Amino acid sequence: MTSLHQLLSLQELSPEQLQHLLQLALQIKHQPALYQQALAGKSIALLFEKPSLRTRVSFDVGIHKLGGHSVYLDQQNGAMGKRETVEDFGRNLACWTDAIVARVYTQSTLEKLAASSGIPVVNALSDLYHPCQALADLLTLHETFGDLSQVQLAFVGDGNNVCHSLMLGAALAGMKLVVITPPNHGPDGHVLQQAQAIATKTGASLSLSHHLSEAHGSQAIYTDTWVSMGESMDAAEQLRRFGDYQLSSAVLERLGISYLMHCLPAHRGQEVTSELLDSKAALVLQQAENRMHAQNAVLVQLLA
Ligand code: CP
Ligand code: NVA
Repeated sequence: MTSLHQLLSLQELSPEQLQHLLQLALQIKHQPALYQQALAGKSIALLFEKPSLRTRVSFDVGIHKLGGHSVYLDQQNGAMGKRETVEDFGRNLACWTDAIVARVYTQSTLEKLAASSGIPVVNALSDLYHPCQALADLLTLHETFGDLSQVQLAFVGDGNNVCHSLMLGAALAGMKLVVITPPNHGPDGHVLQQAQAIATKTGASLSLSHHLSEAHGSQAIYTDTWVSMGESMDAAEQLRRFGDYQLSSAVLERLGISYLMHCLPAHRGQEVTSELLDSKAALVLQQAENRMHAQNAVLVQLLA
């Protein structure tokens, strides 16, 4: 198995590497004492161009639990690409740190950071992907249902970053994924091609639809915000485009689905009702906890 050098999408992973990462994440979760010094002496920059709760805290606390040190950089003290170029930012960070975790507006910023720094870069969300989220989601599905190749998941909402990484992750894991979006909000064609190429090899199945009824037969249904960070859409337009795709307990019952997933933050009363989000059907806090374990597995693979 080749070693991992970065995590910019999930394209870097083979199906075997994905399974290995998930097993490592489980081991770190259940036997943390074995990994207390895994990142001893390592420093990691956490660079955020956008707000975050889960990603920031789970990386910061997770790195600390592995014996490493993290430095949080927001955009208040010199926005990347404004005070100095992204490449200069990357070169300088490499003078002091061992890896960069970055949440950025565009995927190309991650590529520039990786090329200029020469140290491992981990995507903490971009316009195109959210690989750390998808790893935590696959871990959660594995804990809940076992063998991922027997799992059918439906994704409902905007076909962007979270959806894209789920597509690649599901393809690598040999899962069945049904992507349901409003017209004009489907996933990027290039990402779809990449995921389908992987699916052909693993036996995964990916399908696209505009109809919520296609989620029928899934064990879990996943949704995300109607309007991602950095985008804007007035309330009436959001409702016009996405209103038919709101998830509630009644919708899940009608579809015969027992579990809800959401990357969070949730917009209560928009993509999901409060009663469903607060119900036993919601796996959302297990997903949030698993962010840390999945990311720690990535960092151990990259640096230990
Ligand atoms: N799911 C997720 O990435 O949450 P944050 O935006 O709070 O980091
Ligand atoms: N699609 C959302 C995910 C947030 C974790 C966004 O990009 O804002």
